[in-house]
Amino acid sequence: MIKSEKLRALGEMSAGVAHDFNNILGAILGRAQLMKARVDDPTLARGLDIIEKAAIDGASTVKRLQDFTRRRTDQVFSQVDLIQVIEDTLSMTRTRWEDSAHVSGIQYSITTQYEPVSPVAGEISELREVFTNIIFNALDAMPAGGKIHIRVGTEHNRVFAQITDTGRGMTEEVRKRVFDPFFTTKGVKGNGLGMSVAYGIITRHKGEIEVESEYGKGTTIKVTLPVNLDVARREPEAALSPQKKIGRLLIIDDEAAIRDLLAEMLIQQGHEVFTASGGKEGLEIFKDQMPDLVITDLGMPEISGWDVATTVKAVNPSISVILMTGWGITLDKDKARKKGVDVIVAKPFQIGEMEKILNEMIELRHSSEL
Ligand SMILES: Nc1ncnc2c1ncn2[C@@H]1O[C@H](COP(=O)(O)OP(=O)(O)OP(=O)(O)O)[C@@H](O)[C@H]1O
Ligand SMILES: [Mg+2]
Repeated sequence: MIKSEKLRALGEMSAGVAHDFNNILGAILGRAQLMKARVDDPTLARGLDIIEKAAIDGASTVKRLQDFTRRRTDQVFSQVDLIQVIEDTLSMTRTRWEDSAHVSGIQYSITTQYEPVSPVAGEISELREVFTNIIFNALDAMPAGGKIHIRVGTEHNRVFAQITDTGRGMTEEVRKRVFDPFFTTKGVKGNGLGMSVAYGIITRHKGEIEVESEYGKGTTIKVTLPVNLDVARREPEAALSPQKKIGRLLIIDDEAAIRDLLAEMLIQQGHEVFTASGGKEGLEIFKDQMPDLVITDLGMPEISGWDVATTVKAVNPSISVILMTGWGITLDKDKARKKGVDVIVAKPFQIGEMEKILNEMIELRHSSEL
């Protein structure tokens, strides 16, 4: 009884945190993508790439937090190159093993050995999280510096990545408990979640994660994943749609960061954009301007996104409404349609994804006018 009360409270809290984080990550992701389109300096571009990837990974962590309270069924695996995952992880963790270590006078050497491998079926940001955890653990085990060697190869038709460190190793006792949630030997510095999360992710990928360790000598973590050539190739991110249609669009969101970001992106594409920071103001602009399309946030004080959609459809049923929500993707699509919503977009969204949806909807409207 007491336990379930606590779990309920934890569930509510994580849902709230997830929602806020989606907005924050949306702003970071969107800004980074916008800036990337503008900078020429390769160093800046690389930095923005890393920010972008980190925000995407953050978004998928939030999704897992949302999994904690409800079931999601939208996970799609695509073809992932494990070498790419390792390379991404190394560049994202570089500050920790290169710059900060250097400042404290510690030296880490990281070496890699890659055989060409077939793609595996997976979710790239989850796999990056697994290897980030493993690398951080290896660094933690080598407080005075040391070596990490990473090998990627094929074995019995499966692709493996193996990370070996020259750290303090584990006792048999610790090795048995590595995957236990909340098991840590790091006191307040550790949550004991890294390896249990990694275990969950790899199991969902139908793979295996194994630990070999010798106390005082070092540790090897081996992740093995099945090869899968059947799943679709990953679509290039943020690909611009070739034929753009110019439209008049209204954005309603009380979150200034998201509103400005969307506005800027749409203006850049040549659309005429109106913005409002709430439902009431938004509906006034709507009635004055009669835009082609309305993009509205769901949760706003006074007038909600649902009310906006219903009012828009009552005035002119041919105007499309996109509802943005930071509350995960569990909204009932049929119910949404009845209330006047045509498309639901989960925050944080990728700019390319929003662009695609908008272009399709504007095109639809243009063709229905002919
Ligand atoms: N490469 C390693 N070398 C030595 N011990 C390790 C290594 N990897 C994991 N461990 C041991 O396993 C424990 C659990 O690891 P896990 O990643 O789950 O949690 P954590 O690193 O303590 O905390 P968190 O990852 O949540 O910050 C660690 O506290 C550590 O004792
Ligand atoms: Mg860890």
